[in-house]
Amino acid sequence: MAAPPRRIVLASDHAGVEMKRHLREALAEMGIDAEDLGTGSTASVDYPDFAAAVAGRVSGGTAEAGVLVCGTGLGMAMTANKFAGVRAAVLYDDASARLARQHNDANVAVFGARTMTPEDAVRRLRIFLTEDFEGGRHGGRLSKIRDIERKNSTGHGPGPEGQGA
Ligand code: RB5
Repeated sequence: MAAPPRRIVLASDHAGVEMKRHLREALAEMGIDAEDLGTGSTASVDYPDFAAAVAGRVSGGTAEAGVLVCGTGLGMAMTANKFAGVRAAVLYDDASARLARQHNDANVAVFGARTMTPEDAVRRLRIFLTEDFEGGRHGGRLSKIRDIERKNSTGHGPGPEGQGA
C-alpha cells in the first residue's frame, strides 16, 4: 500500500460537477486538500478545457496526480492522454482502479458521472490512491509508451473527426 499523493488537482465538466463534489469530500476525509480547477456549476462547458487544466499540471510536475469527471469519462481521458507523461485511465470497475496503478502507473483517475455511482467512484478513487506501481516488466512497457509518445509528437493528426469507425 502506497501513501496517497499529496498534491492532487481535480476538475469536471457540467455533467461531472456533483460527482466531483463527492470525490473532493472523500479526498478531504483522507487528509488531502485537493485543488479544484472547475467547473463550479452545471452550466454547460467543454470537457477538453478542464481535462487540459488538470493534465497540464500533472504533465508539468506541479501536481502528482489528477482526478477528472465528465459524463462517461471518455472525453476527459482522450484529452488528458494528449499530454506528455500523462497516463489517464477510466476506472470502470474496482479491478481497473487497482491495475491502472499496479500495471500502468496511471497518474490521472477518470470517472463517468453517467456511467457509475458516486459510491463506486469514491471507492475506486481510494483504491487508485493507495496502490503502488509494480515496476518490473510493466516499467519496460511504459518506456515503450514514452517512445511512441516521442515519435508521434509531430503535430500532424489523421484529419477531421467523424471519419473513423
Ligand atoms: C457532455 O454532455 C458529455 O459529452 C461529456 O460529459 C462527456 O461524457 C464526454 O466524453
